[in-house]
Amino acid sequence: MDTQSLLDQAIKARKNAYTPYSKFQVGAAVLTRNKEVFTGSNIENASYGLTNCAERTAIFKAVSEGEREIDTIVVVGDTEGPISPCGACRQVIAEFCDINTKIILANLKGDKVETTIDKLLPGFFYAKDLKQ
Ligand code: THU
Repeated sequence: MDTQSLLDQAIKARKNAYTPYSKFQVGAAVLTRNKEVFTGSNIENASYGLTNCAERTAIFKAVSEGEREIDTIVVVGDTEGPISPCGACRQVIAEFCDINTKIILANLKGDKVETTIDKLLPGFFYAKDLKQ
């Protein structure tokens, strides 16, 4: 699965965004290590804080179908530069990826940046911290 195909799927998923409040649509696509693809869009709520970002939607779809490890995640929005995930999403991405996971941030103009979780969220809270 190449990056362009994942980006195309994220752009398509973006069209399903439910954004009556911000009108800001975001799409995401997750490729798992089992080579399955899950897409997501942001889903807003009249109680604004209950909004679910696109990348969390895609990750939760993957995890709820039994997937646990992300190979690549692509996020796309109509931003000036590549979109930047919120802090909550960074922590959720951290749960299911490692330093080899490709995190690709993009916009509709074709700007793209590839990064890793240690750059996006240095010092993130890690599952192993819970183990005694
Ligand atoms: N949003 C995402 O879905 N992903 C991001 O990476 C940034 C922000 C959504 C949340 C909300 O629906 C809208 O964009 C404006 O914040």
